[in-house]
Amino acid sequence: MEYYQIAIDGPSGSGKSTLAKGVASRLGILYLDTGAMYRACGLKAIKTKIDTKDADQVEKMMQDIKIDITHENGEQHVWLDGEDVSKEIRMPGVSVAASDVSAIPCVREAMVNLQRKISEGKNVVLDGRDIGSKVFPNAKYKFFLVADAEERARRRLLELQEKGVTDTSFEDVLKDIKYRDHQDTTRASSPLVKVEDAIEIDTTSISIEGTLDALLSHIQE
Ligand code: DC
Repeated sequence: MEYYQIAIDGPSGSGKSTLAKGVASRLGILYLDTGAMYRACGLKAIKTKIDTKDADQVEKMMQDIKIDITHENGEQHVWLDGEDVSKEIRMPGVSVAASDVSAIPCVREAMVNLQRKISEGKNVVLDGRDIGSKVFPNAKYKFFLVADAEERARRRLLELQEKGVTDTSFEDVLKDIKYRDHQDTTRASSPLVKVEDAIEIDTTSISIEGTLDALLSHIQE
């Protein structure tokens, strides 16, 4: 049997995870949030107090890291060295650490291998930065989501507030988004790029429901 992959790439806050979850639930396939894996690496760097930009220190850290992904009732859980860190990885501060360590090649190699292994023998939708360009260049469907930075910051702030994080301002979130946009698109190793065969969708002023329908109509075509 042939299995297929759906790749949804784009910058933070462009609506990837909500859309990927929607696609997975409509099609009854597995959703893999790859950003969560880089976040777990970033969290480990914070916990072990290493410099997230120091490739040597991060490389050493990666020799002794265990990341597992499980799914319970459609929700992805991320385990770092045996501990469920699914909530912790969403905290402000982990985003920037994740972006920092994700620029280091050994981190990317380990995470890409893990993503391919988890996807083996399944139909999957993955969201991230390099899914269509690197993880699954032969994915059956590729989407590239974009949205204005201010709108993305507004969404991220709302998300954080819903999680009970109230000590972050719009300006903080926007600064974090701009930092990550720059770093994720300019790094040497698998930067965020729109590949030629990806369908670009601007989610700035369309609702998630509208975007999901647009995505599904491409898939069903
Ligand atoms: O999607 P996210 O915001 O949870 O991702 C956190 C960071 O991880 C992001 O700033 C860049 C990195 N990342 C990546 O380099 N490649 C991926 N496929 C997914 C995320």
